[in-house]
Amino acid sequence: MYRKTLTAILAAGLAVSSGILPAEAGNNAPNEQSDHAFDNKVIKKVDSENMYEHIEVLAQQPREAGTDGEWQGVQYIKEQFESYGYETEIQPFEFNKGFERGTSSISLNSEEFSGDVHTFTGSVNSEAEAPLVYVGLASEEEVDEEVDGKIALIERGQIPFYNKIQNVLDKGAVGVIMFNGEGNTGNQFGTAYEGQDIPAVAITREGGLELVERLAAEDVIATVSVEGAGYITGTSHNVIAKKAPHPNKDNGQIVMVGAHHDSVSAGPGANDDASGVAAVLELARVMANIPTDTELRFATYGAEEKGLVGSYHYAGSLSDEEADNIVGHFQLDMVGSRDAGELIMFTPDGEKNLVTDYGSAAGARVSETVPYGQLGRSDHVPFFERGIPAALFIHAPLEPWYHGPEDTIDKISKEKLQDVGEIVGAAVYQIARPDTPALENANVAPGPVEYDFDDRPL
Ligand code: BES
Ligand code: ZN
Repeated sequence: MYRKTLTAILAAGLAVSSGILPAEAGNNAPNEQSDHAFDNKVIKKVDSENMYEHIEVLAQQPREAGTDGEWQGVQYIKEQFESYGYETEIQPFEFNKGFERGTSSISLNSEEFSGDVHTFTGSVNSEAEAPLVYVGLASEEEVDEEVDGKIALIERGQIPFYNKIQNVLDKGAVGVIMFNGEGNTGNQFGTAYEGQDIPAVAITREGGLELVERLAAEDVIATVSVEGAGYITGTSHNVIAKKAPHPNKDNGQIVMVGAHHDSVSAGPGANDDASGVAAVLELARVMANIPTDTELRFATYGAEEKGLVGSYHYAGSLSDEEADNIVGHFQLDMVGSRDAGELIMFTPDGEKNLVTDYGSAAGARVSETVPYGQLGRSDHVPFFERGIPAALFIHAPLEPWYHGPEDTIDKISKEKLQDVGEIVGAAVYQIARPDTPALENANVAPGPVEYDFDDRPL
């Protein structure tokens, strides 16, 4: 409900600034100077030197989820938030950090299969005994009722493992043996998804083609067995700092600013995403003593690089009421690279939303109007999926160093950090300041701007 109100306000602002509606009070059309004055309380305080120092500390080592490197980062982030006076929570959660394959085997008419058998990542532990049937590539068209109650022999290729397994599972298959695709050697492949509860194993192409031939000549009863397999879980953490609104002015809204603090194992992640964490910390510092009518939540997520696990966990832990009250999530990921392109805001559906509207308008006041584009691949996705307006702030095209050992502090640009810090700070403050929407109705506050879709390469 709050979201609707804000959108309506923004639309009204646009109508006023485009002359469709008369201004309710005052006629002083905002000029550049008054625009700036509107933001000064926040942007004058944003200091890229602070952000740079955070990156220096965080990027001393990789912060892969579940490692000591990540934990040291988490403690540093928590200490910083607390030093600004925030109530801070560390939220632990589990993620899959590996898969133990156990032992898998195949027998054919009671004789053990002679080749090597590889357990699919994610396979359940179970044993199936049933007639073997060849279903080609296991596309939807190829798979029919014949596979019901049988073990499916499948060729790798053309469609994802997940779809192949699902197609035979939907028709009642009780096990999967997949052989490698054309031009591929070996049998170390395959991933099954949660809920695909039949044993799934991989064999070489050679072994598979022999089986196809054999099936043309005789019936085969197969057993497929997987034992002792399972995900190895690790523990990662989110860090959440909250600032309550001014008690007399609480409008029930929440604005979030987030980044991911984990890195890949290969490098120290100075830009990906110590830069985003540094900007979150700096905005938390700047906002700490500024009264707002909106609750502010600053969050850094763990295990983003393992599949957005921390942000999914956090978004999943919100009550419906809380989620409904979050008017926007600003995700800062890779916001300081010297060698990347210009700032852009990505949404998972490629549509504008409240975050991009305020972001582009703040950009126009601070430096440049920020365009928007379509991309998932970061922690804005789980919030978007919960119906919360969310966008990823990133520079594109990307620098070549990301996810490697060269993503180091020397590639960080203080100018880029300063620009993003000011833009996101101005956008968040425009939403959270207690004198909006009254100010906006009085046509003193800066209005929205027009901004474009941009499909530039990554
Ligand atoms: N910082 C990147 C996001 C990114 C990478 C955006 C490349 C745009 C282009 C992020 O940390 C990341 O690497 N995300 C993963 C996806 C995730 C679901 C594991 C990726 O893009 O591979
Ligand atoms: Zn990242």
